[in-house]
Amino acid sequence: MDRSTQEFASFYGQAPVGLCCFDANLRYLHINDRLAAMNGMPAAEHLGKSISEVIPGVAAGVESQLRHVLETGETIVAGSVVAEAPAHPGRAVSFRHHYYPLKSDAGTVVGVGCVVEDVTEQAQAEAALRESEARLRAVLEGAADGVISIDENGIIESFNRTAERIFGHKEADVIGRNVSLLMPEPDRGAHHIYLQEYLRTGVGKIIGIGREVIGLRKDGTLFPLDLAIGEVRLDSGRHFTATLRDVTERKKLERRLQQAGKLEALGRLAGGIAHDFNNLLLPIIAISTVTKQDLAHDERASKNLDMVLEAAAMGRSLVDKIMAFGRQHPMKRQPTNLAGVIEEAYSLIRPTLPATIDIRVELDSAVGLVLADTTQIHEVIANLVSNAADAIGPRAGVIEVRLEKHVADTDARKVEVPAGPHACVTIKDTGCGMQHAVLDQIFEPFFTTKPVGAGAGLGLAVVHGIVSEHSGTIAVTSEPGCGTTFRIYLPVIRQDTPCEARTTVSG
Ligand SMILES: Nc1ncnc2c1ncn2[C@@H]1O[C@H](COP(=O)(O)OP(=O)(O)OP(=O)(O)O)[C@@H](O)[C@H]1O
Ligand SMILES: [Mg+2]
Repeated sequence: MDRSTQEFASFYGQAPVGLCCFDANLRYLHINDRLAAMNGMPAAEHLGKSISEVIPGVAAGVESQLRHVLETGETIVAGSVVAEAPAHPGRAVSFRHHYYPLKSDAGTVVGVGCVVEDVTEQAQAEAALRESEARLRAVLEGAADGVISIDENGIIESFNRTAERIFGHKEADVIGRNVSLLMPEPDRGAHHIYLQEYLRTGVGKIIGIGREVIGLRKDGTLFPLDLAIGEVRLDSGRHFTATLRDVTERKKLERRLQQAGKLEALGRLAGGIAHDFNNLLLPIIAISTVTKQDLAHDERASKNLDMVLEAAAMGRSLVDKIMAFGRQHPMKRQPTNLAGVIEEAYSLIRPTLPATIDIRVELDSAVGLVLADTTQIHEVIANLVSNAADAIGPRAGVIEVRLEKHVADTDARKVEVPAGPHACVTIKDTGCGMQHAVLDQIFEPFFTTKPVGAGAGLGLAVVHGIVSEHSGTIAVTSEPGCGTTFRIYLPVIRQDTPCEARTTVSG
């Protein structure tokens, strides 16, 4: 053997991949030990044998490919086959192979050279990676929280189903875009700077801390969300994973609880003050009345005392309102037909309102019985109608008072009324309506937009208190210039009331 043949034999023998050559009849010419071991047969025993004599399990497939190389002179690169290991029956092995033509000096294909690699471990690792990716994906897709991952430039890399639901964007539409599209200004403009600052200094306001921020949905609406961000450093760079939760409902509940707590505390405080104030008013009224009698001959003093008494009477009516708000009166609840009570309230209120206001009353008497304190329901109706009249002012306008059954499933207004049958009382006006900032505060005691002396800001606080005590729900919709609608939902205790005719009153 000359030197180069020796070198070649050594290279061929020790190569870490399987190598072999076939002659034009597809019989083994050479094979290295590596491939011989894969085939489970000593190298020398291969020589002169056909493929089906050595690896019968895969012979058909291999032979047809080798024949293709022989006939066309083409190369087959990186073909792959999964087969039972010839050396280890029962064990599946993945091979990657390359077949190329061996040509004579004249260029004729005289055989086929083969390179065969056992890529089982690599294939297993790839399969395991695919599986773990699929598993991770399933976890992310099923997560109750939105999960979004971004790269260090803020480019969205993944967006799970909950995130799709929260923001209204489809994953395919946001992948590759900057995450700032999910934020309103000023966060949107500042986000890139914030991220770069964090990358530079490692000091972040949210990353690793979490906080509540404002999100921007596809439809342009804003909502509060709890955001936590974690960082992962990979070879491909730094990546961030945001976990987020829409906390709109929680915030609403918090506000309602706060409001209820505030109302209760204020109620107690106001009740106490009203009580003491009432005690002060009593001697003022009593002494003024007596003095007026004593000074009956003095017209001027008498007039002055009338003013004192008038002011004291106003003070008393204020005390009554505050007491009602502070729930100082015990409730006298009984099964009540709301239609009757509303009609009664209407007949009392109508004469006090200007004729320019058209009040339309439509009452369904078949809504069922409600456990209610009649006096308090009067008060609710009186307060709402008087507010409606104030909102209409001196112009002509309409107030609609309606009583009807509330059917939860079909109510498109999406009010959160607890389950079960409810009666719905609607008071709708064509008045001035309210700005959102006003709407947010109307139930707060002493909140009023009316001039000093015209309103105490207690009407709706009282209404709210009464409705809550009746386990009811109150909802209001209003737009500036478009009127206001109050709806009160009270739970019906019995539906088997005699079915009376619908009452319609107008005046
Ligand atoms: N129907 C309505 N249309 C427009 N604004 C309303 C309406 N009802 C209430 N408001 C607004 O809500 C505020 C609070 O109402 P609320 O009845 O509690 O107090 P008030 O009417 O101002 O005073 P009070 O009822 O004690 O005399 C009002 O000042 C008004 O700004
Ligand atoms: Mg009022």
